Amino acid sequence: MTKKLNIGLFGFGVVGESLWQVLRQKPSLNASISKVCIKHPEKPRNAPASLFTTDPDDILNDTSINVVVELIDDAEAAWKIVGGALKKRKAVVSANKKLIAEHLVELLELQSAYNAPFLYEAACCASIPVVRNLEEYYDNDLLQSISGIVNGSTNYILTKISEDGLDFPKALKQAQEKGFAESDAALDIEGTDAINKLTILLIHAYGIIARPEELTYTGITRLHENDAQFAREKGYEIKLIAHAHKLNNEKVAAFVFPQFLKKDNPLFYVKNEYNGVIIESGLADKQFFNGKGAGGFPTASAVISDLSALRYDYRYEYKKLFNQQPTALTNDFYIRVYVSFDAGYALPADLFEQIEEWAGNDRRNHVLGTLHFSKLANEDWWKHNNISVILQPDAFVSQPAKRVKARFEELLLV
Ligand code: HSE
Repeated sequence: MTKKLNIGLFGFGVVGESLWQVLRQKPSLNASISKVCIKHPEKPRNAPASLFTTDPDDILNDTSINVVVELIDDAEAAWKIVGGALKKRKAVVSANKKLIAEHLVELLELQSAYNAPFLYEAACCASIPVVRNLEEYYDNDLLQSISGIVNGSTNYILTKISEDGLDFPKALKQAQEKGFAESDAALDIEGTDAINKLTILLIHAYGIIARPEELTYTGITRLHENDAQFAREKGYEIKLIAHAHKLNNEKVAAFVFPQFLKKDNPLFYVKNEYNGVIIESGLADKQFFNGKGAGGFPTASAVISDLSALRYDYRYEYKKLFNQQPTALTNDFYIRVYVSFDAGYALPADLFEQIEEWAGNDRRNHVLGTLHFSKLANEDWWKHNNISVILQPDAFVSQPAKRVKARFEELLLV
């Protein structure tokens, strides 16, 4: 006999309403929503008025409610709700990646102090079951790398620009209308949502606790029309990619950047609001997960999977953090990039260890070359002056030969 789940839901937006509809239509799930806490009672809702409250305590103090599902967009308000619910020893399911990324340490402490489960499969790549897979299936020692498209809105925008010729504002508006974007869409387009998700992947993949602001990232707002033109000429797609790669020294390189992809990369074919994750392990080689990364029902599907897991008392054990040797992050590696900038701007050649191409016209120039990653992680030259940095398809390189750099400098002098 499985446990009956009596749910108090916070938030009745795109995902909350989808969850309500699914649970109502599927009594076999043995889970029902008895109260929904909302912020705007004046909004019309497709559910009986008696279901709603504006007082969080109506859920938190109700002892018949054994599960809190948190689906609101305000991370700080969510922190109060989730913290309050765990302290009452209620199980909590959340889709709030910002909350998790920003309060990971406190959330770990609360789970342990109050012995209450906290699950969040929906917070990372929505319908793709990546969190539980990393937690349960992949051993830290064997896990070589994760690379993925983890934000549906930016992927939708890039697809609409490249395939339908939409301009950026129109494509963004569509992503918002379809319910893919965050209420504050800057989180999507500036890469913050992707880096928040990467911090979640890091703890379950490698036992690394990283604060989002410690990691280097950018979104798609710096991309330039000439970058798209370059991609078209080479037969590349530009995608926003989150990376976590274990290097030869066993440390992990983790960052989010736009990247040119070739047709040999399965992420090349991931379009619209879909997400894709490639997991590379020592023995299994590459595995590819593909699925909807945003939207009401796809996200609700992950929430439902967490609810089912709660019925058999599943909780994350954070195995890599507590039971295995956790590893550490590093910025000490080399990366192949494309940098584009306005003609007239003097990009210092000494940023590069190696330069493969320096070309341009009277409006825009680009360089293909290899940088030490600290030039991106510790310096902010690339965040100003209309500069765009895109990773090359085969971005990771071992130490480049300085000789080639010297040769290039000779050429510049001639
Ligand atoms: N705004 C997010 C995205 C929603 O576009 O991926 C799903 O996390």
